[in-house]
This record gives sequence, C-alpha cells and structure tokens, in this order.
Amino acid sequence: TPRPRVLSGIQPTADSFHLGNYLGAVRNWVAMQETHDTFYCVVDLHAITMGHDPALLRQRTRLSAAQLLAAGLDPERCTLFVQSHVPEHPQLSWVMSCITGFGEASRMTQFKDKSAKQGTDRASVGLFTYPILQAADILLYQADAVPVGEDQRQHLELTRDLAQRFNTLFGKTFTVPSAFIVRDTAKITDLQEPTAKMSKSASSPAGIIELLEDPARSAKKIRSAVTDTGREIIFDPAAKPGVSNLLTIYSALTGRPIDDLVGAYDGKGYGDLKKDLAEVVVEFVRPVQERTRAYLDDPAQLDKLLAIGAEKARAVAVETLRAAYDKVGF
Ligand code: ADP
Ligand code: NA
Repeated sequence: TPRPRVLSGIQPTADSFHLGNYLGAVRNWVAMQETHDTFYCVVDLHAITMGHDPALLRQRTRLSAAQLLAAGLDPERCTLFVQSHVPEHPQLSWVMSCITGFGEASRMTQFKDKSAKQGTDRASVGLFTYPILQAADILLYQADAVPVGEDQRQHLELTRDLAQRFNTLFGKTFTVPSAFIVRDTAKITDLQEPTAKMSKSASSPAGIIELLEDPARSAKKIRSAVTDTGREIIFDPAAKPGVSNLLTIYSALTGRPIDDLVGAYDGKGYGDLKKDLAEVVVEFVRPVQERTRAYLDDPAQLDKLLAIGAEKARAVAVETLRAAYDKVGF
C-alpha cells in the first residue's frame, strides 16, 4: 500500500526559524519523510497578505528553504518546493473561492484577529481569502493528512468542507484530508515569559532562540531564562513553566526522557540545568548553521533543488487542476 500523503507549509516571514518552529514543526517534517509521502512548501504567496518588502521576501524564502534542508529535509525523500513556483495554487484557489460562502469565510477567527489588529478597512482581501488558498495548497496534492496545531484547526475544517462540497457539486475529485495530530509535539514557550509560546512576534528577542543567531547569544539566553520560585527541578508546566520549558527543550534535543532528566538533576540547581542546556543548544545549532551556510553559499545548487522540487510538485498539481477544471466546465 502506498504511504499516506501529507502536505505542510511554512511561511518565510523571518530570517531565521526559532527553536519553537524547529521542535514543533520542522523536526516532525523530517521524521515524516520515513513514514509518509511528503510534500513541503515554503508558502511565499501566504507571506504577502499583510504587506511586505520584496527583497526581504526573496531572501527569506531562500533562507527558509536552506534551513529546512539543513534541518534534515532530503530532496530525495520529500518534495520540497516554493509555493509561487507552482501556479496551480492560485488557479485552484479561484475555483474554491467561488464555492466558499462569504459568511463562511467571515467566520475564520484568524482573519477576525488579524484584521482587527490591522483595522478592518486596511486588512487586505488576500488576508480574508488566505484560508481558501490554503485549502487549494492541500487539495492540489490529494493529501490524506495535514499536520495541524490548534491554531490551524478551523482552516483545515474549511478545507474538508470545500473538498466535500466540490465533490458533491461536480463529482468526486478531491481527497478529503484528515488532521494529523502529531504525537509528542513539543510546545516551546518564551524564555522570558514562560507562559507564552515562543514566537517570532515575541516582545523581547531574549525570549526566543533563533537557529541562525550566534550560538554564544543563544547560550546566554538560556542561561538568563526566567525560572520559577523554589529551587527544585521538576516537570510541572502549570506551577513551574520556566523550568518545565527548559526540560522540554532539553529532552527534545537530546532524546532523553524528561523523567530521566529530572532524576539526573535531583539535588542540583537551576544554574546547572541552564549551563548544560546551553551547551546542548549550541551543539545542536552549530551543524545546522554550517549546513545552512553551505546551501546559501551555493545559490545555483539551491535553485536547482528548488526547481526539481517545483517540477515534482507540479507533476501532481497539474493533474489535479486539470481534473477540477474539467469538472467545472473549463
Ligand atoms: P510564530 O508563532 O513564530 O509566528 P509560525 O506561526 O510561523 O510561528 O509557526 C510555524 C510553525 O511552527 C507552525 O507549525 C507552528 O505550529 C510551529 N510553532 C511555532 N511556534 C511554536 C512553539 N513555540 N512551539 C511549538 N511549535 C511552534
Ligand atoms: Na504565528
């Protein structure tokens, strides 16, 4: 039996991925190469919904691809491509937008949140229709499963609804994808505000570990992480979010179970834990940085890998779009 197919995307909206992106998403992408037929996409079309700088977008798209490869995506075992290289995404998106209700799209909470922040008049139509493009991203590849976090659940529901609706209106065309709940996904929190998730929109850069920053800086951030009152090293995210976050990162990067770590640090202090974790983080990021740099230093090779990825993606996307267009009457 063929492996189930997954599609997942990541936005090129920062120069560097942070440790939360890696431990919560990218690491699972790498693992899924072993078990799934994997399509991974740097979603640059999605990155222009809220205003952007063209040169920066171009740079971040390359940086994102280089980091994904450096983190372990293998172009021989997955299809890694840039969304704008596959014109079938916006083509299918148009068709799907014509079977999406205005009210239905208006109920997307992410749009409500983001447009409220920007001001409803200034929010773009692209921000509004973003979940429809996302549906097209997934349906074009006939993905069986989509790894989703809590924040993307509603969008995946819309994707499923649109697939079913299209199939009912025009005849069976799309696989209806299911949510792929990734087990053991680490939720990484901010080092300075350990109850908030680590995010590129963090209030202070001291709260996030960027994969491409100077490792000495990362080490310093770990050593200055906010810890909790008391001195005992135990895993209790509610009562001790700071220490628990450090243990989560430690466990995720070394593969050592949290209980083992708690045992090993029995009788030791927060300072010991932070010092050791700082070393673990440095050991982890160094080779990732080296490999990222190697990809960036050979732009022709990176372009070639992305061109091959786009070609592999298009082979599938063209076929799905053709089938959908036939059904619609084009
Ligand atoms: P950010 O929150 O920094 O804006 P994105 O929303 O672009 O990050 O997330 C990209 C991917 O990384 C998503 O799959 C998301 O679930 C994952 N991710 C982001 N932050 C974290 C975190 N702190 N812990 C675990 N996973 C995260
Ligand atoms: Na986000």
